[in-house]
Amino acid sequence: MSIRTVACIGAGYVGGPTMAVMAERCPDLEFVVADRDESRVRAWQAGTPPIYEPGLEEILRVALRRNLQFTTDVVSAVRQGQIIFVSVNTPTKTFGEGAGMAADLQHWEACARAIRAFADGPRIVVEKSTVPVRTAEAMDRILNDGPGPRKFEVLSNPEFLAEGTAIQDLLEPDRVLIGGPDTAQGREAVEQLVSIYARWVPRDRILTMSVWSAELAKLTANAFLAQRISSINSIAELCEATGARIGEVARAIGLDRRIGPRFLEAGIGFGGSCFRKDLLNLAYLCRVAGLDEVAEYWTAVVRMNERQQTRFVAGMLRRMFNTLADKRIALFGFAFKPDTGDTRDSPAIAIARALLAERARLAITDPRALENARRELADVTDRIEFWADPYAAARGAHAIAVLTAWREYRDLDWSELYRHMERPAFVFDGRNVLDVDALHEIGFNVVPIGAPARIHGGDPAAHLALT
Ligand code: NAD
Ligand code: UGA
Repeated sequence: MSIRTVACIGAGYVGGPTMAVMAERCPDLEFVVADRDESRVRAWQAGTPPIYEPGLEEILRVALRRNLQFTTDVVSAVRQGQIIFVSVNTPTKTFGEGAGMAADLQHWEACARAIRAFADGPRIVVEKSTVPVRTAEAMDRILNDGPGPRKFEVLSNPEFLAEGTAIQDLLEPDRVLIGGPDTAQGREAVEQLVSIYARWVPRDRILTMSVWSAELAKLTANAFLAQRISSINSIAELCEATGARIGEVARAIGLDRRIGPRFLEAGIGFGGSCFRKDLLNLAYLCRVAGLDEVAEYWTAVVRMNERQQTRFVAGMLRRMFNTLADKRIALFGFAFKPDTGDTRDSPAIAIARALLAERARLAITDPRALENARRELADVTDRIEFWADPYAAARGAHAIAVLTAWREYRDLDWSELYRHMERPAFVFDGRNVLDVDALHEIGFNVVPIGAPARIHGGDPAAHLALT
């Protein structure tokens, strides 16, 4: 079949940017993206995306005028698309068997059933969401059940974009994975998808493989990335206990080309909608396969991550004379990483809640994520202020805690911030982005992660000398 129209169900952080870039790169094809969330669709269609992603609006502007449309009409998208991407959310299951670990596939399955019901001819269905191994097989059975010729080929094409760099990642991916069945029809479907990506991705970066390998490779990539963060954080803790510096250790190991320098930034831990979910999902698959030790190994990565947030708050409490009650604490950053407004599973949530449990008062600021922060903490807003301006958030505060590595925080006038804070004034740098010595000189007590704190008059929680 010659492809003229591509559809996508799900216009979120993945579906929206992915289809915008595809449409921009493939002017000869039509793209229709359907989502049941009306307000999201309206925002996309107006060229003002519901998510913040550098470079997205420019790409969107080009494509929207030409060959990209957003709609709430899933049925019409299914009717039009010869290739249908499914990019709906697959959160951790909160009920029934596998609750708290397994992936919740209800949205995925609803899409498969809609495709089956409304597609009036053969379709290539592409699994873009991150799903457990063998999901494509289950979807194939739902789609092709019954007598008659097979109408649907299900491919796995997991997405590796990271938020904040999504456009760059989509324009120049390290690799594109396409998993498909090893049958004549399956191979043909794979070739159709390859030919779309090949318009802008070099052929040697497009890997074709079995569906299950592609599904597992996605979970494994996220598990390895998350594991690096937990590994460096575990060593940061040892640095604090011994007086070593995590920045120096990370630099030293990162220069080993086998290890490499990326994903070695110690801090308050990873957040985002995927690392934790995908690790738990992987561990659940291992458990179901009877591989309890393997499951335990990956679950430990999650535990180590949760520990970073408890450790951070415990450190604040210790340094601030063992009471935070009624102290104003300014949280600088709430997004799970810079260059996004996304707060899903942000470490800031656990930290904010732990500080509130200590009866602190919070003043939260973030350049992009204030609205989402408000939503995340909607049940506890009585002791929280939200400020667009970091100087206003810090006014009268006993401490500033940096929770997101926004570049602008380095360039603030820290002397000005200091002038309007309570004394002694503390900075807890949960992302190691600030100049500890310069801040100490201004008068702050400064506590980084994985390195000695600079406290005027000496650190009451100084490392235990091991020698
Ligand atoms: P998201 O929640 O931002 O978007 C999902 C969208 O699907 C929502 O807008 C929702 O309204 C829509 N939807 C759900 N069920 C629907 C249905 N039956 N009909 C129509 N629309 C429906 O999620 P996301 O962050 O884009 O993630 C999607 C998938 O991609 C997940 O499996 C995730 O693991 C994976 N992924 C995410 C990222 C990321 O950076 N966020 C990166 C790679 C992979
Ligand atoms: C991650 C992966 O990087 C993507 O390849 C993948 O497609 C995506 O998950 C997904 O499947 O959803 P993302 O979560 O957007 O992307 O962002 P990352 O840059 O990976 O950062 C994740 C978290 O780890 C952030 O909270 C970040 O602050 C933290 N992090 C990252 C560290 O604490 N230290 C580091 O060295 C790097």
